[in-house]
Amino acid sequence: MTRPAQALDLSHLWMPFTANRKFKQQPRLLAKAKGMYYTAVDGHEVLDATAGLWCVNAGHGRQEIIDAISKQTAQMDYAPSFQLGHEDSFRAASAVARLMPEGVDRIFFTNSGSESVDTALKIALAYHRARGEGQRTRLIGRERGYHGVGFGGISVGGISPNRKTFSSSLLPGVDHLPHTHDLSRNAHSRGQPAYGEHFADELERIVALHDASTIAAVIVEPLAGSTGVLVPPKGYLEKLRAITEKHGILLIFDEVITGFGRLGAKTASEFFGVTPDLLTLAKGISNASVPAGAVAVKREIHDTILAAAADGIEFFHGYTYSAHPLATAAMMATLEIYERDQLFERAKGLSPLFENEAHKLEDARHVIDVRNLGLVAGIELTPRPGAPGARAAEVFAKCFDQGVMVRYTGDIIAISPPLIIEEEQIRLIFQKIADILKTVE
Ligand SMILES: Cc1ncc(COP(=O)(O)O)c(C=O)c1O
Repeated sequence: MTRPAQALDLSHLWMPFTANRKFKQQPRLLAKAKGMYYTAVDGHEVLDATAGLWCVNAGHGRQEIIDAISKQTAQMDYAPSFQLGHEDSFRAASAVARLMPEGVDRIFFTNSGSESVDTALKIALAYHRARGEGQRTRLIGRERGYHGVGFGGISVGGISPNRKTFSSSLLPGVDHLPHTHDLSRNAHSRGQPAYGEHFADELERIVALHDASTIAAVIVEPLAGSTGVLVPPKGYLEKLRAITEKHGILLIFDEVITGFGRLGAKTASEFFGVTPDLLTLAKGISNASVPAGAVAVKREIHDTILAAAADGIEFFHGYTYSAHPLATAAMMATLEIYERDQLFERAKGLSPLFENEAHKLEDARHVIDVRNLGLVAGIELTPRPGAPGARAAEVFAKCFDQGVMVRYTGDIIAISPPLIIEEEQIRLIFQKIADILKTVE
């Protein structure tokens, strides 16, 4: 356990997605980060097995990014993003566009994944309206989906604790696909599960219920991360694409986690060979060095919205910090590192070893499922009777205290390391979890 070096007032900060009362009794505080490691305030090093929050894909403290941000803040700290621009906002958009699927190359900048999701949903509505189909307002999400915390994101999202408090204020006209998790058939799948393509057929049922003419878009995470790593069954995403296309419904891939190399490809879209109409991005786009996000949009969608607008502003949406100069500097430096160091190829090369090491946990105590894709693994534990989540929380705490940072959601442990990870470090992470599971009741 790490405690602040000296008395620190913990009372003012209301921490996000945190058990505040518990945390403040036993704070775990980080002080430094470099490469694959954090250093806690008590000085002990912690191997980062989660790339921060799925975002530090190039590893911590990259000098090129530090230099780019420092230079930019000295040169021009801020430029208004409405009705004015700065050159790097265009350069950064081109750099992002180069990594996107063919034709999905119009880039709208945001500051976070939540903002990217809400932006993408708005673009979908604006597009149908511009085409004269303004009655297409219905949005379809998926159970267990995580799309951030804006009202749009929680409405299409499918994680009930994130929704229930706000249930009366969620967007109207939203429906949800079923999630794709079926442990009875798919436990311990390596890569994409064989069973479950048919979960996509539920979209036909939803279309039959509401009629396609009322539906604007379907949004899914190609690989669901935050809910505890749900890998799409074989054929599932292809089927979603075919059904959405057939009915003129836009398909949005929320690639906030899967973008920028997580699966050993530029995007999940590239990895699966399925091209959506819009992609939401954040996290790895700037290696998390400066808050940044983006929506990549099919050219035709962008062009339709612009063409339909009267003179003046075409799309009434944007953020004070869209394409913030520090973010554009960070994004360009980050994308250069990915390319120069071939980190996406590196992730692909490491994936088989990562898969093997993860699946060594299949027979470990409490483990009911191991699942993986690219450099992501989920390890599901049986919940402790009457105390769901407590077992994984204990694994997390023990791992941290013994020098490995993992993540947990409910009783699922998630691993998603920076793409610079070494083979030995992959072995160490899963061995550490195995050792700790032996000690956890
Ligand atoms: C798929 C997905 N979408 C959206 C978000 C929200 O991103 P942010 O926390 O930057 O708003 C996340 C965050 O984990 C995510 O995983």
